[in-house]
Amino acid sequence: KQKKIVVTRNIPEEAMALLKEHGNVYVWDSVDNVIPYETLVEEIKDAAALYTIVGDRIDKNLLDHAPHLEVISTMAVGYDNIDVAEARRRGIPVGHTPGILTETTADLTFALLMATARRLVESSDYLRQGQWKSWSPMLLTGQDIYGATLGIIGMGRIGESVARRATGFDMKILYHNRSRRPEVEETLGAVYCSMEDLLKKSDFVVLLAPASSETRHLMGEAEFKQMKPSAVFINASRGSNVDEEALYNALRTGTIWGAGLDVFETEPVASDHPLLSLPNLVALPHIGSASIHTRIKMAVLAAQNLIAGLRKEPLPFEVKTK
Ligand code: GLV
Ligand code: GLV
Repeated sequence: KQKKIVVTRNIPEEAMALLKEHGNVYVWDSVDNVIPYETLVEEIKDAAALYTIVGDRIDKNLLDHAPHLEVISTMAVGYDNIDVAEARRRGIPVGHTPGILTETTADLTFALLMATARRLVESSDYLRQGQWKSWSPMLLTGQDIYGATLGIIGMGRIGESVARRATGFDMKILYHNRSRRPEVEETLGAVYCSMEDLLKKSDFVVLLAPASSETRHLMGEAEFKQMKPSAVFINASRGSNVDEEALYNALRTGTIWGAGLDVFETEPVASDHPLLSLPNLVALPHIGSASIHTRIKMAVLAAQNLIAGLRKEPLPFEVKTK
């Protein structure tokens, strides 16, 4: 009898075809609805493998219902939605997709930075709504990117790729990270500094730290207050890293100038969320890695991780916990 593979969302055909060669696939057949947790609990009972995405909650209770589970594979680099320690305790390897989405996510992060600085979304709405009457000296004016100071919090692969893009704009690059990155300092001229220094000196603060209990609400009222009133804040990491109420207040009162978010504390974010009422916020629906090419590569790599797990082979990319 073929092993059962649970897939929590419709995934690209290239990946699905691979999975079908290696097991009996159950798929929650939807392009935009999360599988109900109760359904997942039911389907996991006799499953040998779980193919999951950002937004599924893979917790201890779910694992308690999965006595036959041999591997978990997420189509993402981040795995904060999975209780990796609990999986490890049960000897279940967890796979993810680092590396291949780095440049695509850096592209989006930089696009979000530019869109926020130059008010692209607001400007486009203005035009479409028929408000454009004439060229006007200070109409829709924003912040300069060229020559500005960029502060990157979380200098991982994506942070480094954002910094590389910034050198093309002659930006001064500051960074804060758990550990220093001498090679990034050497090749890109990035300067390591304390969180406080980074917040005070940066024109753009870009958050790219993975989510953990230590980074929860890393950006809160005190942090926004240290930023320049002309500064722009960008979050392309995880929503839980930011205190959204503090960000809302900072944007509304002019403590900071603008913000661009690709992630939210609760996703999908409700369309009546207070943040979305602010003109100086650019909001995106978690599309960091969303290029056609990269998403297909992620889907296939996640399938390869899963198949390796079923074969009891080392996963091409296994999540390593401390
Ligand atoms: C998406 O946010 C990911 O972690 O790949
Ligand atoms: C993701 O690939 C990161 O380490 O930033």
